[in-house]
Amino acid sequence: MNILNSQSLLKYNTFKVDKKSEFFVDIHNEKELIKVLENRNFSSMNKFILGGGSNILLTKNIDGIVLHNQLKGITIKDEKEDKLLIEVGAGEVWDNLVQWSTDNQLYGIENLSLIPGYVGAAPIQNIGAYGVEIKDVFHQLTAFNLHTTKKTNFNKSSCQFGYRNSIFKNQLKNQYIITKIEMYLSKKPQINTSYYAFKEKIKTFNEKNLSSQNIRDIVIDIRTSKLPNPKNIGNAGSFFKNPLVSKNTLKKLQKSYKDIPVFKNNTEIKIPAAWFIEKGGWKGYREKNCGVYKKHALIIVNHGNANGEDIQALAKKIQKDIFNKFAVRLENEVTIL
Ligand code: FAD
Ligand code: EPU
Repeated sequence: MNILNSQSLLKYNTFKVDKKSEFFVDIHNEKELIKVLENRNFSSMNKFILGGGSNILLTKNIDGIVLHNQLKGITIKDEKEDKLLIEVGAGEVWDNLVQWSTDNQLYGIENLSLIPGYVGAAPIQNIGAYGVEIKDVFHQLTAFNLHTTKKTNFNKSSCQFGYRNSIFKNQLKNQYIITKIEMYLSKKPQINTSYYAFKEKIKTFNEKNLSSQNIRDIVIDIRTSKLPNPKNIGNAGSFFKNPLVSKNTLKKLQKSYKDIPVFKNNTEIKIPAAWFIEKGGWKGYREKNCGVYKKHALIIVNHGNANGEDIQALAKKIQKDIFNKFAVRLENEVTIL
């Protein structure tokens, strides 16, 4: 185990912000994890768990030790006639798992294709895209308490999943490191094409025979046409969550903006944050070395060498302006450090 001192985090965050951590270590297995957690030099130190760094914004150097999750492995734990229970190491790259599932003609996570980051971070904000969230296939996860080192399993209900939310963003924030997760994947074709963006794309397919690989291809096609690839331009995906509003707020907004897009289900009314930001005149805006992506208003981008403080300052400006214009508060999706 190699504990590094004063490690640059530039290549460890997709915003491409140049900050450092006091200490940094790759964790490959539970033994190494326990060794670090019980080490007298590190036990009382601040600990930050890092996956692929695709949902964080670094505005300062990290004090203490960064535990970079590298616990790998995909194992079939149980097989039923119609489904598999799989166990996945938290350090697996999420999209490699999706590719593995479609290669094996399994169903359940293909709509979540191309989301950057590692498997262990997926439950933290209950990743979601194109009508599916990880909670839909989730069985349980294993995590270690960073202070007591106690190992605990969390089932679906104890994770308290919500829209871009879980117990690990609330009561248990920064308390645990997730080491593996278990999920069910269906062996029988079970596709979800409910998301509006699929409508045009699936016309060229026979909808009854769509495979999980077909869905993966469609999702990759949609995503690459509007989201910036962090390899080319620094970003962390949607910077803000889509605001959930009351019926009353929606009515008021509809009086002034008849064309306002609304996504409703039985319990929630969501208005795309991107719509407010575009309507507010921010799409394509640029200041210092950061700005709002020209093809999607919900993505803040680093045009090169922007620092985290500038990106945060821009996000705050946008938040304030949207509140002044629409009386709607945009909440950060990205974790700011
Ligand atoms: P990191 O950024 O490394 O960490 C995020 C948070 O989780 C941090 O607080 C960290 O401490 C914590 N964490 C990470 N791993 C663990 C662990 N093992 N145990 C405990 N805590 C942990 N998200 C979506 O939901 N849907 C999308 O469609 C989507 N699209 C995106 C597109 C782009 C271009 C980008 C850049 C991002 C996108 N995201 C999306 C956001 C991001 O990819 C996800 O939130 C992803 O799950 C983050 O994974 P990560 O490993 O990079 O997490
Ligand atoms: N829109 C605009 N201007 C834009 C872009 C979008 O007005 O520049 C409006 C349009 O009305 C469009 C609507 O926003 O119909 C929705 O846009 P899109 O389908 O791109 O989805 P989104 O709501 O912006 C959410 C997630 C994404 C996820 C997609 C697909 C959040 C915060 N974001 O984006 O997740 O990939 O849906 O399901 O919920 C992420 O979390 O990082 C992320 C990228």
